[in-house]
Amino acid sequence: MKCKICKANAVVALRSHNAAFCGPCYKAFFARQVIRGIESQKLFTHEEKILVALSGGKDSLSLMLELARQGYDVTGLHIDLGIPGSSAAARGVVERFCATHDFRLIIRETGAEGLPIPLLKERLHRPICSVCGKIKRYIFNRVALEGGFDALATGHNLDDEVARLFSNTLRWDSAYLSDQGPRLEGECGFARKVKPLWRLTEFETANYAFLMGIEHHYAPCPYSPGASFTTLKGILQRLEAAMPGRKLDFYQGFLQRGRSAFARCIAEKGMELAPCVECGYPTSSGDLCGVCRIRAALREDT
Ligand code: AMP
Ligand code: FES
Ligand code: ZN
Repeated sequence: MKCKICKANAVVALRSHNAAFCGPCYKAFFARQVIRGIESQKLFTHEEKILVALSGGKDSLSLMLELARQGYDVTGLHIDLGIPGSSAAARGVVERFCATHDFRLIIRETGAEGLPIPLLKERLHRPICSVCGKIKRYIFNRVALEGGFDALATGHNLDDEVARLFSNTLRWDSAYLSDQGPRLEGECGFARKVKPLWRLTEFETANYAFLMGIEHHYAPCPYSPGASFTTLKGILQRLEAAMPGRKLDFYQGFLQRGRSAFARCIAEKGMELAPCVECGYPTSSGDLCGVCRIRAALREDT
């Protein structure tokens, strides 16, 4: 198979784009998709400061490298969850990656914040991954605001986004549907959140990481070995195989025509946000925010 652009031998074939590419032309294709993703949704500009959440996985590391290549002002943020047998390896990968490329890196440890994940798993009678997700979002937000960053970028890709959209649609969850997309506004004490890889699939990002020689850490959460949305991602994969391009169409159609309808219905209902009395984080669920309630539950249990 020949590269669609330069006719050299192709190394990657993409049915959804009806194209094959050699290594250099594939990197250029990937860069173009990131540029379109950023510009079409007005995610951020070259004048803004971007905090990139780095888990150590291929998506977030590829995102960081590509944004830096495009001349964006990026700083990495890694949250060390303190999970034995997993977190140290992820942190090591992120630290080596940032040292190799001379990227600024901020590290936060949930343990140092009084929120060690293994202890929370033992003590709280709630699904640990949702507790962990809440704590990560809390720390992302705080570091972004305290550091004066304009946006917090995560490595979510098209497969993550489409699976989440499909899941929200199956439940017709209007609150979540109104709040999904590659750009969530920064307001009321929340930093702007962006997902610049929203046009690229997991396969496409994996190819980029491979061609760029990115060492990454493959580790699904040890407390929940199945990655999130595994079943839905499998169904969507079969749909994509039968109808190439359908995933991107579904998601883009939602952004163009679906989301605004749900946003209106939520605006009509109204949602009151007030600062948490302990830490000031915006919350809609009473005096304490979710993370301060986790802290309180931990205190009660000790
Ligand atoms: P996940 O929910 O694990 O698929 O992660 C989605 C995105 O969240 C990743 O691409 C990262 O940008 C970010 N992320 C997840 N875990 C961490 C972490 N421990 N530290 C920093 N960023 C993270
Ligand atoms: Fe962090 Fe499962 S404990 S994602
Ligand atoms: Zn709080």
